[in-house]
Amino acid sequence: MTGLLRRVDGLAYGGDYNPEQWDRNVWDEDVRLMQAAGVNLVSVGIFSWSVLEPAPGRYEFRWLDEVMDLLASAGIAVDLANGTASPPPWFSYRYPETLPMLQDGTRLSVGSRQAYCPSSPIFREAAVTLTGEVAERYKDHPALAMWHVSNEIGCHNARCYCDVSAAAFRSWLEAKYGDIDALNEAWGTAFWSQRYGSWAEIGTPRVAPAAINPTQQLDFSRFSSDACLDVYRAERDALRSITPDVPITTNFMVMQFQQQLDYTTWASEVDFLANDHYLDAADPEAHIELAFAADHCRSLNDHRPWLLMEHSTSAVNWQQRNVAKAPGATIRNSLSHIARGADGALFFQWRASRAGAEKFHSAMLPHAGADSARHREVVELGAILRRIGEVAGTEVRAKVALVFDWEAWWAVELDSHPSVDVTYLDRMHATYRALWRLGITTDVVAPSADLSPYRLVIVPTLYLVTEDNAHRLQQYVAGGGTAVVTYFSGIVNEHDHIYLGGYPGALRPWLGVEVEEFFPLRSGATVTLDDGATADVWTEHTEVTTADVISRFADGPAAGRPAVTLNRHGDGSVWYVATRLDEAANSQLMRRIAHESGVESVITAEAATAGLEAVRRAGDLGAYLFLINHGNEPVGVAAEGFDLVSRRTVSGLVEIAPGEVAVIREADN
Ligand code: GAL
Repeated sequence: MTGLLRRVDGLAYGGDYNPEQWDRNVWDEDVRLMQAAGVNLVSVGIFSWSVLEPAPGRYEFRWLDEVMDLLASAGIAVDLANGTASPPPWFSYRYPETLPMLQDGTRLSVGSRQAYCPSSPIFREAAVTLTGEVAERYKDHPALAMWHVSNEIGCHNARCYCDVSAAAFRSWLEAKYGDIDALNEAWGTAFWSQRYGSWAEIGTPRVAPAAINPTQQLDFSRFSSDACLDVYRAERDALRSITPDVPITTNFMVMQFQQQLDYTTWASEVDFLANDHYLDAADPEAHIELAFAADHCRSLNDHRPWLLMEHSTSAVNWQQRNVAKAPGATIRNSLSHIARGADGALFFQWRASRAGAEKFHSAMLPHAGADSARHREVVELGAILRRIGEVAGTEVRAKVALVFDWEAWWAVELDSHPSVDVTYLDRMHATYRALWRLGITTDVVAPSADLSPYRLVIVPTLYLVTEDNAHRLQQYVAGGGTAVVTYFSGIVNEHDHIYLGGYPGALRPWLGVEVEEFFPLRSGATVTLDDGATADVWTEHTEVTTADVISRFADGPAAGRPAVTLNRHGDGSVWYVATRLDEAANSQLMRRIAHESGVESVITAEAATAGLEAVRRAGDLGAYLFLINHGNEPVGVAAEGFDLVSRRTVSGLVEIAPGEVAVIREADN
């Protein structure tokens, strides 16, 4: 991983390796098969605390010494975990107050994983001690390429409601607000007799008789993300003090299943971003959500290359119906991540477990063994990654950005809102899908990001927006940009207080519309627009002030009112979409807007709609066009250059067969 990772040339390839689950004689076979598959990086020791420290203060490193030596002699680099992801049972029994607590006051038990309260000073001290032991032991080991702090911090325990968390929450609030009056003001505690007389009266938002104060909930989300980040920082700093030159990261969960951690505040804390990504087996177009998550990772990592730390070769075991991947999908999925800026593709896990909760999870080496279709695909993927290794270090540049904000996600999905059908990822993913089908590459940026590189900025469901960020968006448009804003945006400030004077509050003056009242629809109800489109979930009484009306509601509670508008503001323009357009209408609208704002696509909309994914990575030495055919038909694309996958020169119309991939080093670069 050029520039990011020691000891790995080109792209990283491998997965979580858990040799402690297997007899010693299996390790030799592991290493032999890893070499044959082109594995050059494995993550070791992630869940090893109970074997590394079987009793308080008694360390057992000999087995890990042997694993590290074996890997080093095979030329396989190690992403070494500090081992803190799951404290051993003895720890939890000795310090039961470190076990996390649910919102209803249930204390969680021993026997699973990650059973600790992120705010627990006892846990933190023990984790830092183990980290120090591991770092001292392996600081000079030739296999050590990087440190893997903990594992998916907060995956199961991000929000802990125990008394220790409550005390930490109070300190966090005191640091934020300074005095209790400021907190009362921000939380709107004049409502329902919630005024606090002292800090001591404040707790975590445990289950209560009715709706819980929304700002308390919002601050608790912020606090919980920060508490998890503090876990990371403490362990990272312990590593850094011993090995200042070894890169350190932790695996993020930038994906549809993870809402609880605000990675915009985490990204600058890691030496490079590493992500875990799993497909939703229920989503027939999961490869598009994958692309969204990968684009998000790249954007969070300041557009620089990042590392795919985990994904699956086939089915997972933790969804309702764990659908296996079609032949070739492992290769396509890995290549999509790499196309979008990953400098490596790793899996959970190398060898499928025989026992334990994840024994039905796919792996690089399945239960059937090396002589299996799945493993052959793993070997093929390893060979492809070696052939395309020169793309490492190159970057992806986009001209379109989607604005994404975890705080807006938390806030919009709080209870007691106009409609439970307004969810954060809904319009985000719908817009992204539309852009994907146009062959357009998109960044996913925070509302505070520099928007000047973009020709088009889309703002889906930005319910919560600060005045500063609203101003930034306005300046972007006034300066000549094109923006699209969807309904239920600009409604509240950072304290979840409504911007008064009409919706969409903070954005209203430059959107050129004014909304007096929302008219959400009943479940399953639809409305028609005067251009023939259908929509559901949301309508509202929009009036235009300066905007032009593009389409109107033809029926429903907002009949005759504008549904889609366009306002010229300064040198730019801004669209407003006041309803949840059906997929075809949304795609058509995005096509028009992308065209009018002069955004170029990498391939034609026809090719993309047929299922071809196309992304360009470029660096000082040239550009690489990734082509991945997710569809059932061959798709032709104009390209000149050399396909690193098939090792052949291509020219003119290049045909990508269904399920196939190509990575073309472009001729004119
Ligand atoms: C991740 C985790 C891995 C494994 C994997 C299964 O959340 O980091 O340890 O559990 O999921 O999909």
